[in-house]
Amino acid sequence: MITFERFSKRFGAVDAVTALSLTIEPGEIVALLGPNGSGKTTSIKAAAGLIRPSAGEVRLGVPGRPASEAEARRLSSFLPQKVSFPDALTGRDVLDFYCALRGRPSARVADVLRFTGLNGASVRSVGTYSGGMMQRLALAVAMLPDAPVLLLDEPTAALDPDGLSAFYALIDARRAAGQTVLFSSHQMGEAERLATRFVVLIGGHLAASFTAAELSARLAARGVMHVSLDRQPADLLDAVRQVAAHAEWSHDALHVHAAPAERAAVLDVIRASGAVIRGLTAEEGRLDAFYRDLVGGKP
Ligand SMILES: Nc1ncnc2c1ncn2[C@@H]1O[C@H](COP(=O)(O)OP(=O)(O)OP(=O)(O)O)[C@@H](O)[C@H]1O
Ligand SMILES: [Mg+2]
Repeated sequence: MITFERFSKRFGAVDAVTALSLTIEPGEIVALLGPNGSGKTTSIKAAAGLIRPSAGEVRLGVPGRPASEAEARRLSSFLPQKVSFPDALTGRDVLDFYCALRGRPSARVADVLRFTGLNGASVRSVGTYSGGMMQRLALAVAMLPDAPVLLLDEPTAALDPDGLSAFYALIDARRAAGQTVLFSSHQMGEAERLATRFVVLIGGHLAASFTAAELSARLAARGVMHVSLDRQPADLLDAVRQVAAHAEWSHDALHVHAAPAERAAVLDVIRASGAVIRGLTAEEGRLDAFYRDLVGGKP
């Protein structure tokens, strides 16, 4: 549905994206991750047909059409990272304008207003909007066409918790309808909650691409269990290290890096040592730590 084929974009001397190859199937919700300036906006704009490749191709639809062609652009709806609407217009005016532009029935405006929770503010001029209201309006505009491909560049950066819930519901509905979403984000929790696939760009290059299932498998191995014991039996650490990759003492607690499947064996070894378990907690691996390792400490 979205195909990047050795897509490259150069701005003057800057290589914003280099030879990106990526195929996004219908029904996928793809989170585009990466540090500032890594090429996320450039790639999303190219899929929206707003940036022409310096080399390679970006296609939309089945069969694929170059993203800049009118036929391809009709398939997508794009939410820019930086939005601006004429200050003097009301939110409602803006939505009426885009609704007519995309040839949607005017009743659609009421739907998206309700969904994005903008109702009360829709009669005010856009110049009086807060940052979050602007983002809600931009999201409402992006929802108007009900396009099969949603391209969202940092859609939630300014949203409050209510706005976030509305956004999550929107993405869940799009996924249930088999539509395709490509969104960029710096919020790892949000990406984990929504995406069926994660794509990481670093310095304009594809650094990683993994499905939610692959992520779960990789994160499982990063889980840590903390077991508080009544004492420190002399040979326990060595015995635990036979069944789990890493283990160390911290005061009276044993910290063990172990996937969920290995944890029962760790507990068996501890019990066999005769020590009494006073407390037990487990932390699962998180996308944000995994991401930080991938980008090597860059923000
Ligand atoms: N119109 C432009 N002219 C010159 N350079 C540009 C232009 N647009 C983007 N760039 C450069 O291309 C690179 C990638 O920018 P891009 O906006 O795609 O990054 P990003 O991953 O979206 O970053 P952020 O997380 O900050 O939004 C950066 O080095 C940026 O300075
Ligand atoms: Mg960007």
